Amino acid sequence: MNQVLTFDPIKYKITTISNWNKVAQSYHNEWASINLGPFGSTQQVVDLAEIDVEDKVLDIACGTGAVSKIIGKILGKNGILIGCDIAFNPLKIASQEIKFQNFYVVEMNSENMSFSKINFDKIVCQYGLMFFTNPLKVLVNIREYLSERGKLIIAVHGNEDKAPYFSSIMRNIIKHIPNIRQKGSPSVHSLGEDGILEKMLADSNYSNIKILKRNFVYNAGSFEQYWNDYMDTTANSLRETIKDCGENTIEKIIHDSEIETREYLKDRSIIFPWEVIIAVAER
Ligand SMILES: C[S@@+](CC[C@H](N)C(=O)[O-])C[C@H]1O[C@@H](n2cnc3c(N)ncnc32)[C@H](O)[C@@H]1O
Repeated sequence: MNQVLTFDPIKYKITTISNWNKVAQSYHNEWASINLGPFGSTQQVVDLAEIDVEDKVLDIACGTGAVSKIIGKILGKNGILIGCDIAFNPLKIASQEIKFQNFYVVEMNSENMSFSKINFDKIVCQYGLMFFTNPLKVLVNIREYLSERGKLIIAVHGNEDKAPYFSSIMRNIIKHIPNIRQKGSPSVHSLGEDGILEKMLADSNYSNIKILKRNFVYNAGSFEQYWNDYMDTTANSLRETIKDCGENTIEKIIHDSEIETREYLKDRSIIFPWEVIIAVAER
């Protein structure tokens, strides 16, 4: 009988940290640092932040520093840039990559964030908010750290149909191994439905909220390349569990996933559409 696991936020955080520590280097080399697919948004997030040389900037879930790296090149000697992330290895890469003299990294869970004696002119969060167990609480909390005219820029992935890279395999992992994820776990798509992010920002009392949609594409190569890449990165933390379910189950997942990707096949490469939602708001 399949056991349905109830959501355990501590276990979820431990898995998050371990997973991002494992995949940080390949995430950086193969995606974030080369602006691949959805990372076309990185420059747009920075442009929308309208960084001033003297700004104090917070980059939440900064990872390996894709957004911070560009911001650090704009800030002057009186500017301050803080990158925070729950995992150590992404931060280590960010510190090596970012040469800006006033760049500081903080290893911290953004869901329990606390700063004293500092207000930020800009807060950015690219591809982080949807991983939080309570994104609304985070939005309410960070508003307190924004200066009076401070600006918040958030980027999240679109829903399953609009950013199918994640779902084309994950849907079939869950179909064949229904208890693989704790019920209620945040998903990469959890803020990707129309209106969700806008409502959350409004409920957290932000003003001048603007929602922009950007469409990118990602060439995943052959199905085999897509599968291998996915197992090395996105599904890394589930790999052992999937393996334990046996060859028969893995074959079924591969079979069904391959069928799903056919609609994106062009000249033997899978070309995924990739919608990104960018929200801009003021305190
Ligand atoms: C997809 S990466 C995004 C990194 C970076 N913002 C970028 O655009 O490349 C997601 C990051 O969120 C971090 N993260 C996940 N949950 C977090 C939490 N509760 N607090 C802080 N960081 C978190 C992960 O460690 C990871 O580095």
